[in-house]
Amino acid sequence: MTTQGEFRRYLVNIDSISTNQLFTDCLVIGTGIAGLRAAIEAAQTRKVIVVCKDNIEKSNTWDAQGGIASVLKSQDSFQSHIEDTLNTGCGLCEPEVVELVVRKGPELVRQLLDWGVQFDLSGEDIAVTIEGGHSHSRVAHAHGDETGRVIAETMIKYAKSNPNIRIIERFYAIDLITDDHNQCLGVIGQGSKGRQIIWAGSTILATGGAGRLYRETTNSEIATGDGLPMAYRAGAMLRDMEFMQFHPTTLYIAGASRALITEAVRGEGAKLVDSEAEEFMKEYHEKAELAPRDVVSRAILSQMLKTGSTHVYLDVRHFDKQFLTKRFPRISEICESFDIDTSTELIPVRPSAHYMIGGVKTDSSAGTNIRNFYACGEVASTGLHGANRLGSNSLLEGLVFGKIAGQSAAQNAESAAATRTKIPPIEYNIPSSDRTRLDISDVKNSLRALMWRNVGITRREKPLAEAQEIIRFWQRYVMDKIFARPDGWQCQNMLTLAMLMATAAQQRKESRGVHFRQDYPEKSSQFQKHIEISRD
Ligand code: FUM
Repeated sequence: MTTQGEFRRYLVNIDSISTNQLFTDCLVIGTGIAGLRAAIEAAQTRKVIVVCKDNIEKSNTWDAQGGIASVLKSQDSFQSHIEDTLNTGCGLCEPEVVELVVRKGPELVRQLLDWGVQFDLSGEDIAVTIEGGHSHSRVAHAHGDETGRVIAETMIKYAKSNPNIRIIERFYAIDLITDDHNQCLGVIGQGSKGRQIIWAGSTILATGGAGRLYRETTNSEIATGDGLPMAYRAGAMLRDMEFMQFHPTTLYIAGASRALITEAVRGEGAKLVDSEAEEFMKEYHEKAELAPRDVVSRAILSQMLKTGSTHVYLDVRHFDKQFLTKRFPRISEICESFDIDTSTELIPVRPSAHYMIGGVKTDSSAGTNIRNFYACGEVASTGLHGANRLGSNSLLEGLVFGKIAGQSAAQNAESAAATRTKIPPIEYNIPSSDRTRLDISDVKNSLRALMWRNVGITRREKPLAEAQEIIRFWQRYVMDKIFARPDGWQCQNMLTLAMLMATAAQQRKESRGVHFRQDYPEKSSQFQKHIEISRD
């Protein structure tokens, strides 16, 4: 499938001879769990450069609360984790990938413990909790609800101590550079030293998610999905772009920035109640609060409509205050900062965009359809999640496929020295650029509102078509510009990505997993397949 709309191969002019250049064996773009794990693996045998567009701490991994799912207890089994993942994925998981990730999980989670990640313990062993869709307690957590921060901090420290790894922060990757042989040669970007090309024997994309394409999201401001349009321009095959997962419970206080309230709170017994303080989840699913996320998100939406309210509530008033503070320190702090006394008051929540299931299509070695180009983590579509992701399977996927990507990239990379002798001079000139000044943040904000309204939790043909028409209109005056700063490139990327997502959502004329079409509310066997999109 292809999308309409004008686009250029590169967002900026390139003249490799006059541009500052670096050479490395392996390049990793992104510093979440997948990027860091890939870098650590590749650095066993190769020189690695890791770049990230902001501070190294800024990632969806850092913000992850609930935990990392893996079979860590004898009562649990690989088969059970595999079945839960397949059931949640609604017929679109790749079974061999599910098996691979589930089976490799425990060893890699315990390796994190060896590296110094202080998981919460129960006795001598890692403590686990349950989340929606899981048949067993298998979600390991750290410092209560700060799992992502604890894992990321440890991995950053580990990576920084490795002499084979060089980390460059605040480097915005603008475009992957490819040659006529469908081979990735590295990236052109902008860092503190200005425009730079990093030539690499192999390149790993680990740029994370795209929640910031939506007005309502749990994701931090960096999650604008830049890696996906960048890979698309380079010719990568993207898959499952219609599957954006919405998290049911995001703190909703008008005017305040949205904050995730982890599903683990419901795992520990929190109840959802509507604006009349009535519990409602049993009306929607036998598993009530622990139903799959898409079910809970739509149930909340429908209850909001029924009661004419902008949100529902999480009720944790029955929790022991000490338990709440210890098990969920971050949430306790957030609630306190808004003067919500959780022992007497309800927490206002509603769903928001959370996790991009679709991404760059990869095989079981994290390879893509472009030579020397790999992808892992949220930006990749490995086939693990199918049409719906089981909670806490994402950190696991990042860990497993991060390692695999690092291994593959290291094995297949030419050395920096070999790369240096082979790189042809690259020149790319954009004929002209309209110099009209644009209010970039206005375009971005309008796009986020449009995506929330028209390509949100529930979808219909007409709003999806309208979204594409509006995005195309914005593209007409944004895409032909040559910007000099990240906010401009980011805006171009967001418009490309939004178009890909809206197009795929319109193509899938059925409801499956996180993709719910009001006009096609049932699953259809005709769509028991992936939608793939590439530039060609
Ligand atoms: O609810 C949560 O803590 C989210 C977990 C996840 O997205 O995997």
